[in-house]
Amino acid sequence: MSSDKAKLIAVVGATGQQGGAAVRALRARGQFKVRALTRNPDKHRDLADEVVQADLDRPETLKAAFEGAHGVFLVTNFWEQGTDELKQATAAVRAAKEAGVKHFVWSTLPNVEAIGGGKLHVPHFTGKARIDRIVREAGFPHHTFVIAPFYYQNLMGALAPQKQADGSLGWALPIDPGVRGIHMGDITELGNIVAGAFAHPAEAGNGEYLPLVGDFMSFNEIIDTLNRQGHTFSFKRVPNEAFAALFPGAAEIEQTFRHFEAHTYLGSHSTDRIALANRLAGAQPTPFSTWARAHFPVQ
Ligand SMILES: NC(=O)c1ccc[n+]([C@@H]2O[C@H](COP(=O)([O-])OP(=O)(O)OC[C@H]3O[C@@H](n4cnc5c(N)ncnc54)[C@H](OP(=O)(O)O)[C@@H]3O)[C@@H](O)[C@H]2O)c1
Repeated sequence: MSSDKAKLIAVVGATGQQGGAAVRALRARGQFKVRALTRNPDKHRDLADEVVQADLDRPETLKAAFEGAHGVFLVTNFWEQGTDELKQATAAVRAAKEAGVKHFVWSTLPNVEAIGGGKLHVPHFTGKARIDRIVREAGFPHHTFVIAPFYYQNLMGALAPQKQADGSLGWALPIDPGVRGIHMGDITELGNIVAGAFAHPAEAGNGEYLPLVGDFMSFNEIIDTLNRQGHTFSFKRVPNEAFAALFPGAAEIEQTFRHFEAHTYLGSHSTDRIALANRLAGAQPTPFSTWARAHFPVQ
């Protein structure tokens, strides 16, 4: 259990998938006191040892949010309308510095612009990567970068199988289904890495990059895995230009898939980083087949 003397970790996004995972793992570890941050503390009173208001768009709220905190976990939500990730993260880093925070953990993503030589435009990746320098140069005694994977949960949420023109249920996406390029994972397990980083600052707190990777797959492998468990999902590759014009945000997703196909999600050889993340987490991440059997119900 957490004691009053335990160091306090303030978690941004505590009501969401990444921050929620961080809160649960930190509490389970029992080593830290946890302060959940949300724009609506009254709706989430039981989330952690403390629940405090923080709005990244209102920097004046961040002083009280980070006051007395030993560590801060920061995630920004690109997909929320009106979000300026650079502005939000800059405000959070500044407020954390002023509050005397000792260990700052930022949930980043690879720099697709740099990896692809400027050919691909994926702001929800590259915009986060550009924040790394701000975190690094802020001069915290310790800082860590965690990298969230393609959530397994996407396949039941934003990217759930759809009814196709031929009557089948499945995916129509602008990606070669034979190319293995997607670093994936159960996002609820990101918290183990975050908690592990705060618990091991000497090993994780010198700017280490810690990706969560439960599996590395092609779309064919994803579908074969599901279909072996009783599903009958189909896959159709659609032309990139046609997909990009389909709905608001489709162009960003099309470019993201191009990146997976050309360079892989992480965009670099990451075996050592993954091994360090798993060691600090104290657990091997769940492979897709195991997760799907437990969470992806056969209709
Ligand atoms: N889906 C994927 O495969 C994937 C992979 C890698 C990275 N990502 C990234 O993950 C991020 C989203 O994280 P998530 O999945 O944890 O999101 P989520 O489950 O949708 O939750 C969003 C969280 O952000 C908080 N939030 C939003 N705007 C805020 C603001 N102005 N001030 C303070 N808190 C704010 C919300 O808190 P309250 O509403 O309680 O205030 C909520 O806790 C995105 O930036 C996305 O690019 C996604």
